[in-house]
Parts: sequence; structure tokens; C-alpha cells
Amino acid sequence: MPIPVISATGLWTPPHSVSNEELVESFNAWADKWNADHTAAIQAGEVEPKPHSSVEFIEKASGIKSRYVVDKAGVIDPAVMAPRIPERPNEEISVLAEIAVKAARQSLDAAGRDPKDVDAVLCAASNMQRAYPAMAIEVQQALGIEGFAFDMNVACSSATFGIQTAADFVRSGSAKSVLMVNPEICSGHLNFTDRDSHFIFGDVATAVLVEAEDIAPADHWKILHTHLKTQFSNNIRNNFGFLNRAAPEGIGATDKLFVQEGRKVFREVVPMVAAMIQEDLDALGLQGTDLRRLWLHQANANMNRLIAGKVLGHEASEDESPTVLDTYANTSSAGSIIAFHTHSGDIKPGEKGVICSFGAGYSAGTVFVERAA
Ligand code: COA
Repeated sequence: MPIPVISATGLWTPPHSVSNEELVESFNAWADKWNADHTAAIQAGEVEPKPHSSVEFIEKASGIKSRYVVDKAGVIDPAVMAPRIPERPNEEISVLAEIAVKAARQSLDAAGRDPKDVDAVLCAASNMQRAYPAMAIEVQQALGIEGFAFDMNVACSSATFGIQTAADFVRSGSAKSVLMVNPEICSGHLNFTDRDSHFIFGDVATAVLVEAEDIAPADHWKILHTHLKTQFSNNIRNNFGFLNRAAPEGIGATDKLFVQEGRKVFREVVPMVAAMIQEDLDALGLQGTDLRRLWLHQANANMNRLIAGKVLGHEASEDESPTVLDTYANTSSAGSIIAFHTHSGDIKPGEKGVICSFGAGYSAGTVFVERAA
């Protein structure tokens, strides 16, 4: 049976960063205007005034200091409070495919892989920009890849689910080289007028090339073990879809964007993920301390501190569990892959680690890797 490995990764970062200060300033200006426009209703007790957001709260509660976005002007304009991404004609590459291709090219170049020798493309992401044709097929065409491509969405866990799917294709012999991309324009589904969540997400694209060991470059990552898990929950939800296209405004309009019960998510997901990693370690006959590094999903610094602490048996250092959400914020499926891409160069042959993602569904996935000798 062919053995799947990770040959290379890629990362595309948008050029514009928005600091907490800039985001809070625009939110507070929007809230002040909203309160001024609703003075009579507020005074009559019919609606609550919108309270200000705070930089200190955001950093303490989440660890986020800034985020990259594809359109900064719209996001921080109190009169807009959303990214303005011009629609493109069908003849032009769509924006999600374009950023996926940028990350993909980096991973192909790093592996020395000619796109013609890739057999399949998976677009694994939370925020697909359209229903069909699949984003993955557009990426496939833009890169000149033959074979097949399709989209898959398991929210923030999409990348680990994508890696296991790619690895299974390699094992079964249906593909020898699988490109998995995670383009995430999270700013498109974020409600920038919701104080509880306006700071959470950022935009990015990542790529992972999963291949049969016999064609992979010498410097690759063995995949020791993968594990996927899902358990239904409404605590992170987005009801946007073509069945509700007729009612974009009014009652329920905000549920067509990201909404969550952040506290419940925190409480329920931390033990679920820590137990899952422990179960995997037991299956592999390893201790937490055998892991050189944990590349965790980047949603909340305090969540990661708790998960890493449970797995390692001690408070994790930044070296053991690196953070990228301070500069990238939550980038949904791409977060753990950014952490892996930017913090794996120093890992020595034979050293092991785990890529782990978790989020809406609930869903969680682990990919245990070892740097090849
Ligand atoms: N600025 C200032 N205050 C704010 C605020 C903001 N932007 N947002 C919320 N607050 C207030 C709340 O109103 C609340 O006030 P109260 O105590 O008077 O009611 C207080 O701060 C605490 O809010 P809470 O929502 O309970 O904060 P928290 O400590 O749970 O942190 C999250 C919020 C979202 C950062 C945190 O719950 C989290 O990250 N959860 C996990 C999320 C996750 O992983 N989601 C997956 C997404 S894919």
C-alpha cells in the first residue's frame, strides 16, 4: 500500500493588516452613530444602546492583536463595516481561487512538483464563495492540473479532514499527489457590528501537498496517524445559504453571518480536543512529552494554553505550542497550517508533532507527523 506523506506547504498572506486599535475605533464610531440614530428608542427603553468595544478585552479574552484582511478600507469604515470585494465576471478567476492558487504554487515550488504531476485538488475551507462549480476545480484549471477536484467544508477543521482525505486517496491508489488548499476570506462572513465577535477572524490561504512517499522530496513529513471526530452543536453557526436569499434584511438577518456561544464553545471543545489527542497518543504508544511541537488551531490563546497544558502535563512554551493568532487572528481551517508552515523549519529529522484543528460542527481533527530523516 502506498504510504502518504506531507511533501510541502504554502501560505499566502493578504497585504493589509488591521490592528485591534483600528478595529475598535471603527466599531466605536459605528456604535456612537447607531446610538445617535436611535436616541428616541433608547430613551423610551425600546432598545439597548450599543456599548463600546475595547482593545484590552480583545487581547485578554482571545490573544488576538491584529488580523490580515483582503479589504481593509471597507472593514474599518464605520459606514460600511464589511469587506468590499468587487464581483468579477465569470471569465476572470474568482478571488477565492486566486488566493488558493498563490498558496498552492508556493507548496508546489517547495516540493519541486510540476502541476501536471498532481492528480487531485481538494479545496477544504469554511467560506466557499459560491455553491458551484467547485472552487477546487477552478484552482485545478488555473494550475493546469489533470485528474479531479472537489470542495469540502468541515468549518475550522477542514484542513485536517482534507489531509486525511488526501492521505486516504494516496493509500487507496486513487491518487499519488494531492493538493489540498484552504482559502479563507473569513471577513466575508464576519459581522463587524457585533461587539462579541467583530475581532475574531482574518483572511489568508494555505496549501498542503500530500503525496506517496516514493515520489515525495527527501525532506518531507511522515504522517504517523490521523483522527477525525464530529459531534453536532449549534454553538457555532452560520445560516447563510441560497434557501434564505430572499430575506437578507430584518429579523434573523444577523444569523446569516457567523454567530457563536463563545463561552460554551470554550468549555466544551477544550476537553474534547485534549481527550482526543490523548487517545491518539495512547494509540501510538507515545507520551505528550514525545511531541516536539503542537500546531494547534488558532481560535483563542487561552484555549490553546489549556489544551497544550493537558497534553504535555506542563504549561506549554511558545516553542512547544506556537501562536500565530496574535497577528493572523482566527483564520478558520488555515490556522493550524499557518502555525505548521511558519514554525516547522527547526524541527529535526525523527522529531514528532501534531497538527490539530477544531471548530464548528463540532469538529476536530489530528494529524501526527514526524520529520523524515
Ligand atoms: N469589548 C469589550 N467587552 C466585550 C467585548 C468587546 N469586544 N465583547 C464582549 N464583551 C463583554 C461581554 O459583554 C461580557 O460582559 P458581561 O460580563 O458584562 O456580560 C464580557 O465582556 C465577557 O464576555 P464573554 O463573551 O463571556 O467573553 P469570553 O471571555 O468568553 O471571551 C471569546 C469571548 C469569544 C473570545 C471566547 O469565548 C472564545 O474565544 N471562545 C471560543 C471561541 C471559538 O473557539 N470559536 C470557534 C470559532 S471557529
